[in-house]
Amino acid sequence: MSFFKLTIRDVPIERKLVLVRADYNVPLAKDGSISDDFRIRASLPTLKYLLERGCKVVIMSHLGRPDGRDESLSLRPVADRLSELLGQQVQFVDDCIGDKVASAVRSTAFGGVLLLENLRFYKQEEANDSRFAEKIAKSTGARYFVQDGFGVVHRAHASTSAITQFIPSVAGLLLEREYSTITKAMEDPARPLVAILGGAKVSDKIGLIERFVHVADKILIGGAMANTFLDYKGYAMGASKLELNQKETLDKIYWAAGEKVGGEHVDDFIILPTDVAVARDTSIEAKRKDVAVSDVGFDELALDIGDRSIERFVRQIDKAKTVIWNGPVGWSELEEFAHGSARIALALASQKRRTMSIIGGGDTADFVLKWDGGDGQDFGHISTGGGASLELMAGEKLPGVESLLDSRK
Ligand code: 3PG
Repeated sequence: MSFFKLTIRDVPIERKLVLVRADYNVPLAKDGSISDDFRIRASLPTLKYLLERGCKVVIMSHLGRPDGRDESLSLRPVADRLSELLGQQVQFVDDCIGDKVASAVRSTAFGGVLLLENLRFYKQEEANDSRFAEKIAKSTGARYFVQDGFGVVHRAHASTSAITQFIPSVAGLLLEREYSTITKAMEDPARPLVAILGGAKVSDKIGLIERFVHVADKILIGGAMANTFLDYKGYAMGASKLELNQKETLDKIYWAAGEKVGGEHVDDFIILPTDVAVARDTSIEAKRKDVAVSDVGFDELALDIGDRSIERFVRQIDKAKTVIWNGPVGWSELEEFAHGSARIALALASQKRRTMSIIGGGDTADFVLKWDGGDGQDFGHISTGGGASLELMAGEKLPGVESLLDSRK
């Protein structure tokens, strides 16, 4: 399955001035330092490819959701981290349009890298403003635009959409890998395909659940999402976090599942926990207690899947050839309630050679990266995109990909 857009490999990019859109929206610690550089590391293959070919590389990104200029959301710390990772000095300029940028680009040599300041210091970025995009194009003078910020391609912003009206635009290697890997797993997976869904809300993931009903062989539900499903099934979930008013959505999901596997097999297709780990609060001292889903006390919160459910989930994972995991299955910030997610991570890591695992971005990616010590090598593919991977898995078109030049292959 080949990628449907041109990439940096398809165009004569050698010794050109290239503008790269990366997603350096990285988490920052209280002291302003970068607490997780996964997204920066993920951008290296494209940057190295361009540098090895003598390009001058100008990078742009957003960071956070500032309201105007906000020094606490400057990309300067990213330039420092990128310098360390690339082993060469990355220049930084504290704007993304105008004369200052033009002059910083001029003083960057071919083979060098310049990082522009946070695009979202200008409200025109999120407004997908063409004049702003044109200013970026003119100030940088780039010959090619390379979209490599997979995490942001679900947004139609000036740096993902309007910019492509002004510069020939192709995909970077990260974008190509993310798109192809996720699309292959959804459209042509090695089977059985097991989907694991967790996280807080059903309503955020309706499109994804519906798609999995069509493409997956089993769907395992955990996290607060499972509480909503269990509530729908008539279980009293005590003080657990759940979403109200989901009856219509879940009726639809169960109807579609029944059409696919037959009404009597639905509960063996959409697999819910049969037991949950409960506590009375989410404090650091809270201790887990496993109870059947029918025995959750009125003042108890279900915070993880229980031990029997963990075993059941792991048995399904053992049989899978592809596993797509989106959303932790418990309150994984607290170790006591991270057992389910940790056992899933362990199962996937130990069968890495025979099962393709795809970890959706956001919380699930954060969890597995912490679990495996930060490099993610134990898994098939860890996505750098939260919303973007969710939308791609749900089969939606991504504006930042659609706007790139088509491949004629
Ligand atoms: C992300 O972290 O999901 C992307 O960087 C997009 O950020 P946004 O949700 O603020 O647009």
